[in-house]
Amino acid sequence: MNKIIVKGGKSLNGEISVQGAKNSVLPILVATLLVNGISVIHNCPCLSDVDATIKILRYLGCSVLREGHTVTVDSSTMNRNDVPDELMREMRSSIVFLGGIMGRMGKAILSTPGGCEIGLRPIDLHLSAMEQFGARIINENGLIICSAEEKGLCGTRITLSFPSVGATENIILTAALSKGTTVIINAAREPEIIDLADFLNKCGAKIHGAGESTITVEGVLSLHSAEHTIIPDRIVASTYMIAAAMTGGSLTLKNVIPSHLGPIIQPLRESGCQVNIKGRKISLSSPKQLKRIKIIRTMPHPGFPTDAQAQMMALTTIADGTSVFIENIFESRYKHIGELLRFGAKIHAEGRMAVVEGVRNLNGANVKATDLRGGSAMILAGLRAAGITEISEIHHIDRGYEEPEKVLESLGADIKRVNENEKSTTE
Ligand code: UD1
Repeated sequence: MNKIIVKGGKSLNGEISVQGAKNSVLPILVATLLVNGISVIHNCPCLSDVDATIKILRYLGCSVLREGHTVTVDSSTMNRNDVPDELMREMRSSIVFLGGIMGRMGKAILSTPGGCEIGLRPIDLHLSAMEQFGARIINENGLIICSAEEKGLCGTRITLSFPSVGATENIILTAALSKGTTVIINAAREPEIIDLADFLNKCGAKIHGAGESTITVEGVLSLHSAEHTIIPDRIVASTYMIAAAMTGGSLTLKNVIPSHLGPIIQPLRESGCQVNIKGRKISLSSPKQLKRIKIIRTMPHPGFPTDAQAQMMALTTIADGTSVFIENIFESRYKHIGELLRFGAKIHAEGRMAVVEGVRNLNGANVKATDLRGGSAMILAGLRAAGITEISEIHHIDRGYEEPEKVLESLGADIKRVNENEKSTTE
């Protein structure tokens, strides 16, 4: 078991570039199934969720080559339409394979994804969308058998009751090669949806309106090979900005798309940080004392992202005054609060609301990563806290951050990754 150990109190300064977006690379790798040829995807971050996606692509018969941050997928050899339970469980977002396999094969057999650390994650919207395309769904012994083999998939008008990111992606993937036109009403507007549509359009798909709440997909007969570069990860960028803000530092992020970061920049400015944007660069310098952020409500894009809620909460633990959080996206996304309390933070949570009363200082603690973003909040608190922080269960963090300890060390942090066994022999 690996751990991250942080000796807090160092201010973070410097310039870094930001890794490719996890939430873009996963659906785009799945989309390569529709190409029936070779896709070259650049700027793929090295993450365990990307490894899990590649494992599933290989199981389906694709040949996948990974060279540094470039992944080449030849999906012309795809020969299966099922994903076994153990592979589905490796990654929470594997449900997006439903649209990829349906679009390519017209039939998909997947196991039901279980609950997860941040909520139940039902898939009713995904399944109902498949039925609206004309597929029949049988739910048997934990397996979802989804088939449109008899009549084929037909484009349709689908209204989502909530702008689900995964359901929007599954609909786009299914619609790209379906007969006729599909219109998605109340589609998710996240930048990662635009990236998926951009990749598919490069392959010859006809997707219009990605990034808006109505998306139209005109089905085409086939897609051709293409190259694509994944957009920078707005949540990773946010996390490092918060790290600089919490440690009294100054940070420049290269290679970001500032418009994706608007919902994060606004509360950072409210906390007293100066944020300057120039082209694809963002510079942040922090004040002597952070101020409270009156209220953070997580919302679908372009609202404040739920994936940055835990990190922003870490920031408010040392801000002057009381901040309020309302988590509107996932029902149990406050598991990090129990761990933040170990640092001496003052937080009270009830239902979807959490009230954070800023304290002067945090103290290093032994904590665990409760989930991916909750885990990154532990690193942030550790960077600010006096003394040593040990974070366990960091496999959660490795799902979304590429070598965070190296990035933070390059900015001046005292942080290392240790193997539990090595640690006990050197102590
Ligand atoms: C994606 C992101 C995740 C982010 C989330 C919200 C990926 C790989 N993951 O997750 O990092 O936190 O968007 O921005 O892109 N819901 C239903 N029924 C459904 C589908 C969703 O009730 O069929 C609910 C969920 O329980 C949740 C809400 O809708 O409460 C949002 O979920 P959704 O947008 O689907 O998130 P994901 O695609 O799972």
